[in-house]
Amino acid sequence: MPARNSETSFGTVTRTFHWLVALLILTAIPLGVIANQLPYDTAEALAVKAELFSWHKTLGVAAFLLGLARILWAVVERHPVPLHPERKAELTLAGMVHWLLYISLVVVPLSGWVHHAAVTGFAPILWPFGQTLPFVPQSEAVASAAGAVHWVFTKVMGLAILLHIAGALKHHVIDRDATLLRMARGVVAPDQPQPVRKGAAPVVFALAIYAAGAGVAALLVPDGEALAAPAPAAETTGNWTVTEGTLGLTVKQMGAEVSGSFANWTADITFDETASAGKHGTVTVTIDMTSVTLGSVTKQALEAEFFDVASHPTAVFAADILPATEGYLAQGTLTLRGMEKAVALPFTLTITGDEAQMTGAVTLDRRDFGIGRSYGDEASVGFPVVVDVALTARRVP
Ligand code: HEM
Ligand code: HEM
Repeated sequence: MPARNSETSFGTVTRTFHWLVALLILTAIPLGVIANQLPYDTAEALAVKAELFSWHKTLGVAAFLLGLARILWAVVERHPVPLHPERKAELTLAGMVHWLLYISLVVVPLSGWVHHAAVTGFAPILWPFGQTLPFVPQSEAVASAAGAVHWVFTKVMGLAILLHIAGALKHHVIDRDATLLRMARGVVAPDQPQPVRKGAAPVVFALAIYAAGAGVAALLVPDGEALAAPAPAAETTGNWTVTEGTLGLTVKQMGAEVSGSFANWTADITFDETASAGKHGTVTVTIDMTSVTLGSVTKQALEAEFFDVASHPTAVFAADILPATEGYLAQGTLTLRGMEKAVALPFTLTITGDEAQMTGAVTLDRRDFGIGRSYGDEASVGFPVVVDVALTARRVP
């Protein structure tokens, strides 16, 4: 059986590429749809969901790499002539669908991969390529755009595949010609017609559909403001005003670290370099819990099982600032999810004139605040949550 295509038949290389890619894609699609719909209300359900997503991504990446090789092969290889060159409209439709499939082979998995690389955590790719991609920043804006592209073009690809399969079946069942058997078994059609000249219409139509899809994807992306970089509010009643800063959190999920931050929080700081009555001052941090982003699991973090922001939209850390052997200690209570616990945050401070740089971190245990009660062990969500703060403050004149 010849490896290369001829004027009248598909060779083994083209056919192997076609059916391998088809198998990967037709497996990745149901995995993606099912994984997306599965609940994650218990640790077991989340583990199954993550496992299916891991397989979806792993097969998707395989389809992408094989798809690229297939496209290169299609570029250098001749294409057998169509069996019914006189059916112009049918040829244009089939050609357009082939172009849609070729473009989708790149855009669909690549957008999924970019989405995956731009958010941290949840459902690793099982290939040993690492979890990030060069040139893809870890950013909500990039993730959200790539997610919208993946969503829209999986639909375009699905529709193209349905049309493609319907066409193949129509040839086999209604026309009773060798179109399907040429691809399935390398059969050479008996009454092979002469070559036809291909026009540009199929590729133009396919690109027009993709341009329309890109427009729909753009509409689905939330506006820039909703995705703005975290920044604290400047209001304060203390003697220092926070001018910039980040309040971050990191937790282990499925053994991999997921990091996020709170976009809205305020810090009331009263601080003197010289301690009086054993303390340097006080700090009250008020955190808008609805402003959390946590990689690919932001939605879950907001829900009743975790931060329960509907019932407890704010958290407050009120502490005294005490001297410590290295730097300082903010020692007080954290009220989170309606529960109050003692928390001590060690931090360092560098004061240059009227500006202070502060960095500190503390590890909390999510169980102290009743977070993730149905996740009784650490297999899905780790117990420790590292909270890190870095801020710049100006002395109020
Ligand atoms: C050719 C390969 C691929 C196909 C055909 C495909 C198809 C799909 C489909 C049909 C869905 C469900 C969409 C829905 O239910 O509305 C989905 C979701 C998803 N896919 Fe893919 N996918 C592919 C490759 C990838 C790759 C390589 C990755 C990541 C590395 C990926 C990541 C995702 C993610 C994260 C979701 C969930 C999106 C969300 O939460 O909104 N996919 N994919
Ligand atoms: C059960 C599923 C499928 C069947 C029955 C099928 C059948 C066929 C047949 C009969 C042809 C030859 C058409 C011709 O002679 O002009 C073909 C070509 C092609 N198929 Fe599929 N296919 C299937 C799935 C897929 C999938 C999932 C993809 C996805 C990416 C795909 C991509 C293509 C492409 C790009 C060509 C054009 C080959 C060329 O450049 O000449 N097919 N398919």
